Amino acid sequence: MTKLTRLVVLISGNGSNLQAILDACVSGELPASVVSVISNKADAYGLTRARNAGVEAIYFAKRENESRRDYDARLADEVTSKQADYIILAGWMRILSSSFLSSFPNRVINLHPALPGTFPGTHAIQRAFESYQRGEITHTGVMVHLVPDEGVDNGPVLATEIVPIHKDDTLESLETRVHQAEHCILVETLKTIISNTKT
Ligand code: GAR
Repeated sequence: MTKLTRLVVLISGNGSNLQAILDACVSGELPASVVSVISNKADAYGLTRARNAGVEAIYFAKRENESRRDYDARLADEVTSKQADYIILAGWMRILSSSFLSSFPNRVINLHPALPGTFPGTHAIQRAFESYQRGEITHTGVMVHLVPDEGVDNGPVLATEIVPIHKDDTLESLETRVHQAEHCILVETLKTIISNTKT
């Protein structure tokens, strides 16, 4: 039997993209195993999704007065202990410094609900929707990229997909379409990376 690729997924919230990964692992679509889910938020629903799937779920709290670098170094130690092949940022809403990233070159993968160079940071879908309403853009998109440094939602692009915006869209309908695109592109990209790694 081929060895399953070990994934650690970092989240901060709902975890619908984590769920897409978990489902693809269970169905066998993804020859991978989520070995741990780590959240920087105690109430992230993704932690419940992990537990429901029988996957280790860790709330990784920031200590009082802890610097970003110290938190990131401690997080790197935690992730290292999981012997992950890849670390997936699936709605992880905290910038990672080099004291985390230097431990995992070319192994940290981020998902962002916008096209490269557009709407980095939080509320990307809402900002795209508002930009569309001002007549500045005709579509938005999603991307998956490597995280080489502290640049926000920026790094070597692994995959992109355009998501159209329709005249009768509400923010909610656009969000639904973007999230559907994300769930697919994330699993597809991981599939490609894993199959390329194994050949
Ligand atoms: C997703 O839309 C993801 O792309 C976004 O957070 C959401 C998490 O949803 N990430 C960013 O905006 C990163 N800058 P989920 O918790 O349901 O997977």
